[in-house]
Amino acid sequence: MNKKKIEFEYKTKIKLLVDYNKNYYDASKPSVTDKAYDDLKNSILILESKYSFLNSKNSPSKIVGYKPSKNFLKTAHRVPMLSLANAFGRDDLINFEKRILNFLSKNSDFNLSYSAEPKIDGISASLIYKNSEFKIGLSRGDGKEGEDITANLATIKDIPKKIHSKDFPEEIDIRGEVFIQNSDFKNLNEKFANPRNAASGSLRQKNPNDTKKIPLRFIAYTFGFEKGLKIKNQIDFLDKLNDWGFKTNPLNKLVTGVDNLLINYFNIEKDRTKIDFDIDGIVYKINNFELQKRLGNVANAPRWAIAHKFASNKAISKIINIEIQIGRTGALTPVAKIKPVNIGGVIVSNATLHNEDEIDRKDIRVGDLATIERAGDVIPHILSVDKRKRDKQSIKFIFPKKCPSCGSKTIKEFNHITKKEDAVRRCASEGYVCEKIVIEKLKHFVSKEAFNIEGFGKKIVENFWKLNLIKLPQDIFNLDFKKIENLEGWGKQSMENLKYSINQRKNISLEKLIYSLGIRHIGVENAKILSKYFKSFSNFVSFSSGTSLDDILDIDGIGETQLNSVKGFFNNKINLNILKELQKVLIIKDAVTKDKNGLLKEKTFMVTGKLNGISRAEVKSLIEENSGSSVSTITKKLNYLIIGDKPTKKKVDQAKELQIPILNQNQFLKMLNITS
Ligand code: IVH
Repeated sequence: MNKKKIEFEYKTKIKLLVDYNKNYYDASKPSVTDKAYDDLKNSILILESKYSFLNSKNSPSKIVGYKPSKNFLKTAHRVPMLSLANAFGRDDLINFEKRILNFLSKNSDFNLSYSAEPKIDGISASLIYKNSEFKIGLSRGDGKEGEDITANLATIKDIPKKIHSKDFPEEIDIRGEVFIQNSDFKNLNEKFANPRNAASGSLRQKNPNDTKKIPLRFIAYTFGFEKGLKIKNQIDFLDKLNDWGFKTNPLNKLVTGVDNLLINYFNIEKDRTKIDFDIDGIVYKINNFELQKRLGNVANAPRWAIAHKFASNKAISKIINIEIQIGRTGALTPVAKIKPVNIGGVIVSNATLHNEDEIDRKDIRVGDLATIERAGDVIPHILSVDKRKRDKQSIKFIFPKKCPSCGSKTIKEFNHITKKEDAVRRCASEGYVCEKIVIEKLKHFVSKEAFNIEGFGKKIVENFWKLNLIKLPQDIFNLDFKKIENLEGWGKQSMENLKYSINQRKNISLEKLIYSLGIRHIGVENAKILSKYFKSFSNFVSFSSGTSLDDILDIDGIGETQLNSVKGFFNNKINLNILKELQKVLIIKDAVTKDKNGLLKEKTFMVTGKLNGISRAEVKSLIEENSGSSVSTITKKLNYLIIGDKPTKKKVDQAKELQIPILNQNQFLKMLNITS
């Protein structure tokens, strides 16, 4: 085929796909079957991978939400579906409340009211309504994009298809939980391990008629984006949901203060088995929407909500072996292999032992009978072992002093802040020497929060490593796909899918790239901070050669530990080479601040002294939301020093000397058009 013909074929296919998308998304009337749609999409992707001159802005490789999927189309959530932090007892709740009061700069006598909502263990869903009609229903997916399961959700009676109330917002994304009642579950003919699996399985049926057979229910509890919602707090919102025709949890309650949260918690836990659906805890949400907005989110959970989990399930089983796993930072983590045991509906065969000290303290040995605890989605752990039932020949477990993978010496670092030796023992080898560390680094590189290469799971990383297909991160982008196609368990289609997923991620943001490198102490948040500071990949790399790296200490959030770790990373030649090679195969997007043209564009701020009614953390988020940055030391590059009550004299003097403008709280708030 000549070039012209290929281009013509490509363009015709793209045009057809655009039509299909239009029918599906705008008119909500799919004009072809899912299979025909997927086939067309795949044929476009195959053409693109064969002929590099093909390119279109409407290509499925460029449009979010049109990725290949087995049964369902993926669509980005306009507002991400977050998860919740967990609390296990009174102390966690007190800390949660303290953090909130600190952030809002309120005294401890300030009364916080919460909407306390029993947490149903089901599958969350997002329902998009436009002009009072149910239009699109999405699964949670990875929180950023979900699967379009509109047809299946539409079979659920509890989900209103049309809303007749006058005060229903023009547009709203109602979120809640799809679940099966226990009594309904008992009568099901289909074989599922528990109600949650049954709900999840039936929601993912290809044919909505199969979903219809399962008595799914829906309870609403929050919203994503909205246009025209006139409610000021969560409890009123829950009431409104009822008025509009949604079901809500009858046990939801407005509660003030931690003590009352605990009373409510024990009351509900006591009657837990009398309720006809499974709950695994209680969600507490700050009732006032205004406060929720001020509090905002950290990484992927809101600051204003927490899930208070019910006591976990326990079981007794035998420890068959103690294995040492090596993490990507070299940490040696002991894991107990136990005789498989059912704990609260889940078969458990591994339990974490945390570290060497924990084994010592509890005197845990191979062959012991152990009590194992599992709480929610947390990794099971060993509470205690029964020393009386222990074999006479049993011997104390000796923790290896050399790395079981590469034989390097292991060390326990000294923590300069706590002035104590670290509990964790680590392989002391650096960079890409220890086989187990390398494999873990590669798994991290392709993982969800990092490059997020779909279909590139942990097993594939291990397998490709063994086959010498990948040894370093850059190898992922130079894979020999012909070889992969011929591997056992692979074929043309699965190879094409992998190739597609990898190609899709060649376009990456600087913050994701930094996070993917797996530099110790540089998690999602710190990677974000560094990327904002360096702005471009070339800045990031060039900093490696200069002492100017010390400047990153000025950034709020980066401390000595992080700085030393970044320095250590740049001191390693292999790392520098990896960066060079990655640059050749990737398109690395410069850092973008949320609102590039915010009111505080390109300005740096520092705060000293106590502000009135607003915490440091909130000032920092306000600055960042408005495209400024906040720093922790005074240099001549600082644009403004904000002073509150009792400022540090030295800082004020330094600022005066460097002729840095000094603002009081009101002057600062005025810059943001906030008057107090
Ligand atoms: S609010 C932004 N409310 O818990 C807060 N979630 O771990 C997140 N869940 O994915 C959603 N009951 O599946 C919220 N009353 C409730 C809930 C609830 C159950 C689930 C939901 C979510 C998960 C978060």
